[in-house]
Amino acid sequence: MTKSIVTGAAGFIGSHLVEALLQRGEQVIAIDEFNDYYDPNFKKKNIVHLQNHPGLTFIAASIQVLDWKTLLEDVDFIYHQAAQAGVRASWGEAFGAYTERNLNATQVLLEAAKNAPRLQRLVFASTSSVYGDAETLPTSESVCPQPVSPYGITKLAAERLCALYYKNFGVPWVALRYFTVYGPRQRPDMAFHKFLQAMLHRQAISIYGDGQQTRDFTYVSDVVAANLAAACVPQAVGEIFNIGGGSTVMLNQVLSLMEEIVGYSVPRNYLPKAVGDARHTAADVSKARQILGYQPQVSLPWGLTQQWYWIKSLYA
Ligand SMILES: NC(=O)c1ccc[n+]([C@@H]2O[C@H](COP(=O)([O-])OP(=O)(O)OC[C@H]3O[C@@H](n4cnc5c(N)ncnc54)[C@H](O)[C@@H]3O)[C@@H](O)[C@H]2O)c1
Repeated sequence: MTKSIVTGAAGFIGSHLVEALLQRGEQVIAIDEFNDYYDPNFKKKNIVHLQNHPGLTFIAASIQVLDWKTLLEDVDFIYHQAAQAGVRASWGEAFGAYTERNLNATQVLLEAAKNAPRLQRLVFASTSSVYGDAETLPTSESVCPQPVSPYGITKLAAERLCALYYKNFGVPWVALRYFTVYGPRQRPDMAFHKFLQAMLHRQAISIYGDGQQTRDFTYVSDVVAANLAAACVPQAVGEIFNIGGGSTVMLNQVLSLMEEIVGYSVPRNYLPKAVGDARHTAADVSKARQILGYQPQVSLPWGLTQQWYWIKSLYA
């Protein structure tokens, strides 16, 4: 039977991935250290419904302290989602958490992956933040990455480390550069979560910048589908893929759409632009379409509606 490891398994994206793998009948070892970057109670809620699943083994520990040799004895796939996420928080004293969780943790995993007898794929969760303010929009993977945040720097460094371990030791990696992911369980520090939470409580929304920045928003089930494809398509090994949602939308337009879904509006406060935020992001997903068969399925109105239902139940 296929056995997979998901790191960052109690997080936003990792928990959806664990769910999908279990639904396919796979054995899953889920790893998460439940750190307090945001309230760990959110993370516990993300996975509480899975805890008695017979296919699941949950390990609540840091990647850096595990006995990887034993863990990887019979593992076929690693989905490495664990990271210190968040662009704005990556400046200043917090940077140590970014190097530790994004770069050092990935190095530990890669060292172990060198000698893993059954490993077919290590899927690395990368980010559109590696591009920074890309000159070409939509941006393809051939554009030279120029991160504008320390977070983007650490994720790019981790990508490069994966490439080194592939070249020198044949570790079969794939990187997926996710573009702003949303949907139920989205982290509480992310914009849609904060906006919908404010709307629920009929409070004003704070927006960094003028709201005219654009993003390629990607629904979480599309990201999960991309991971599953990246793990099984042979031509994906050693490659990097953009994973975007298929449409690029201005933040102010998203807010109007949210008002339609919610049925009322709240005041907007425009704050100075945050340092490290890219102005525009847009994914050219032709490579993912061609090689992975990736085709985003979820429209922004439908996806936002799902996230609104979830926000209401979360804060009810
Ligand atoms: N959410 C997005 O829009 C987005 C966009 C681009 C890339 N990504 C990437 O996707 C991945 C998942 O992001 P997310 O939004 O689900 O974040 P998240 O913070 O919800 O999940 C990450 C999880 O990893 C765990 N973790 C971190 N370091 C660990 C370690 N050393 N050992 C064990 N567990 C550890 C955390 O406790 C957390 O639960 C990350 O790699 C992130 O960089 C996310």
